[in-house]
Amino acid sequence: MQLHTYSTVTDASAKAFDIIKTGIENGSIRTLGLATGGTPLKFYEKFRASNLDVSNVSTVNLDEYVGLNAKDENSYRYYMEKELFSHMNFKETFLPNGMAADLDEECLHYEGILQDHPVDVQILGIGENGHIGFNEPGTSFESLTHVVELTESTREANKRYFDKEEDVPTHAISMGIKSILSAKKIILLAFGANKAEAVKQMLEGEVSEGCPASVLQKHSDVIVLADQEAASLL
Ligand code: GLP
Repeated sequence: MQLHTYSTVTDASAKAFDIIKTGIENGSIRTLGLATGGTPLKFYEKFRASNLDVSNVSTVNLDEYVGLNAKDENSYRYYMEKELFSHMNFKETFLPNGMAADLDEECLHYEGILQDHPVDVQILGIGENGHIGFNEPGTSFESLTHVVELTESTREANKRYFDKEEDVPTHAISMGIKSILSAKKIILLAFGANKAEAVKQMLEGEVSEGCPASVLQKHSDVIVLADQEAASLL
């Protein structure tokens, strides 16, 4: 894994965008894997300010809450439309459907979408407990797209976006660890002191299901773009 440390989130996000822009312009990125949360916001700001033609590019997102529809401001579909999709001309955009009547069927369906759209570059954030997507500690490295029960710490970390704590969904659909690792290239963004321990475990800890992000040590092309706070324990 390669680590690059930047003094600002803006600089790190600009680097991530440069890599994506080059790949889209030279045609090597046909499918782009995207993430939500606070971490990629500056990356999306840079993206939508560009005049990049993405009409040949499909996107797949990592995850979606169960029970929130596209019009719900807290759904990841809403977030993606607002931050990126409504500003760009992507060929097609996929997220798991958290409103599906049969969630297990939806997981299989989404895995089929991933097989039809192999991810060229996947953007990732990291949870404070080392989760990637919504794959919490203990998730099998062999997991494919699945329904997950969110841990207390993840619900706690995400409650800032909701009016009331009880509004935070208890479940999500997430690409599995194996699905994420299928990406040809992975760019992980990590910002802030609250991510420092997870970044250390990811890069220097043993590869273990106790820290889902540590599995990235096994992937041949991962770039970690961190700010100084997130890299402060290395
Ligand atoms: C969330 C998302 C992840 C994200 C992570 C970090 O729960 N499911 O995809 O990477 O947690 O979130 P943030 O970027 O807001 O710190």
